[in-house]
Amino acid sequence: MARITYISPAGVKTTVEAEDGSTVMQTALRNNVDGIVGECGGNALCATCHVYVDEAQFAGLGPIVDFEEELLDCTSSPRKDTSRLSCQIPVTGAVDGLIVRLPETQE
Ligand code: FES
Repeated sequence: MARITYISPAGVKTTVEAEDGSTVMQTALRNNVDGIVGECGGNALCATCHVYVDEAQFAGLGPIVDFEEELLDCTSSPRKDTSRLSCQIPVTGAVDGLIVRLPETQE
């Protein structure tokens, strides 16, 4: 179990409990967090689950694999150094306290 905080573009914070074995994208959808679409269901095909990870926490999430790297160039909102696809961030105890900011748009 981990707590994840999503911050909307307007600065509204939503903190939810996430289940181990799910992803940051699935956790947002289950908790009706606006701003993450997850159109492809987490198969790394759509880039509608784009988030900006808190700078201090970014490196701790591990490396970005090639297919995620390519898809991050297709996001609707600008890619930043801390961009990730939230469907590719698994929930484990290691992400407890994770903070992600939601982009202006996913479409
Ligand atoms: S949900 Fe489609 S790429 Fe993440």
